[in-house]
Amino acid sequence: MTIPAVRIPAARVVFTPEERARILELVDRSLSSGSLTLGPLGDEFETAFAKRHQRAHAVATSSGTAALEIVLRASGLSGAEVVVPANTFFATAAAVVHAGGRVRFADADPGTLSVSVSSVAAAMTPATAAVIVVHVGGTICPDMEAIADLCERRGVVVIEDAAHAAGSLGDGYPAGTFSRAATFSFYPTKILTSAEGGMIVTDDVTLADEARVYRDQGKASFLGGGHVRLGAAWRMSEVHAAIGLVHLDHVDESIGVRRAVATRYDGALRSLPGVTVLEEPPGSWRNVYKYPVLLDPWIDQAALGEALATRGIALSGKVYATPLHREPVFAGMDGAIPPDGLAVAEEVCARHVCLPVHSDMTVAEVDRVVDALSAALASTPPGRR
Ligand SMILES: Cc1ncc(COP(=O)(O)O)c(C=O)c1O
Repeated sequence: MTIPAVRIPAARVVFTPEERARILELVDRSLSSGSLTLGPLGDEFETAFAKRHQRAHAVATSSGTAALEIVLRASGLSGAEVVVPANTFFATAAAVVHAGGRVRFADADPGTLSVSVSSVAAAMTPATAAVIVVHVGGTICPDMEAIADLCERRGVVVIEDAAHAAGSLGDGYPAGTFSRAATFSFYPTKILTSAEGGMIVTDDVTLADEARVYRDQGKASFLGGGHVRLGAAWRMSEVHAAIGLVHLDHVDESIGVRRAVATRYDGALRSLPGVTVLEEPPGSWRNVYKYPVLLDPWIDQAALGEALATRGIALSGKVYATPLHREPVFAGMDGAIPPDGLAVAEEVCARHVCLPVHSDMTVAEVDRVVDALSAALASTPPGRR
């Protein structure tokens, strides 16, 4: 078989020539002014991001991980028990531990890969002080309102780890508006990137002010004052802010392309034996950061990946390959696993794969992926049942 000349990668970082020129202009402005961190570009990025996500305040940080730890500390949750999804990135749970807290894992929902109100309720204990919900792959968790009601009744704080969900909507509301405070990541693979970086959004002015103190070594103010909190070097530089600010301008265009990719995949894959499409929940307007599907358990995923690679397609693997309670750092951690276990998180980690999706993907590329997947499934020997 001849390998197609142009490989379709799992993900692609997209900056147009115009965007690159604008970023260089802004970086030049920053270098010539000598304002290299916590300056006007950061302020502009924060203002634009807060507006796009309909929150009163945004605080830019050095990463999504830093944003999470800052929110926990600034909310007085250091040392608290926090429910986090078993199916999320390491940083969601690690931030709780870095802030001195204890994690309690919630099981996944097979339709969204996120948590559900029942899995959150099953994970909570009388000691639970906060719940962090992750919008896995960019789909706003459809149970957000029910989770917020449950938490309000129990006096528990809700935080969104919206690392994947910049620009996504749920029932018309942007990611980041379903909680006391939400965090975003601008890591290079994200739809909106600043190379490295993160953002906190909130309507709570006290929390926003505290977050600004924490991100700059816990100093009472940028130019002086004592170290009043145990903060760290969690600032966003002006160079990173320049990249993020320009990319933010194009986020809706990128999402438009990605949604069209998802619609085409959905239509083609619904009838493909062995594949279960994860349907967009009613009321959701997802950014399609990832396009995961569930594969039937009989499919040998390694063989499938190889068969696709010979056709020039990179199967991006998984959103998360291992649920966090199976990660060496968290395995065996006292009290982390709820009584009913975390069977769905284990199953969805094992069964899902992500198809390529890029902010400039063409219809021809989508069709090539679909054709290759259909052919590869037909030629892949069954795995162990
Ligand atoms: C769900 C989730 N939370 C937090 C993070 C951490 O973000 P960062 O890499 O910007 O620290 C990521 C990173 O990809 C993530 O996927």
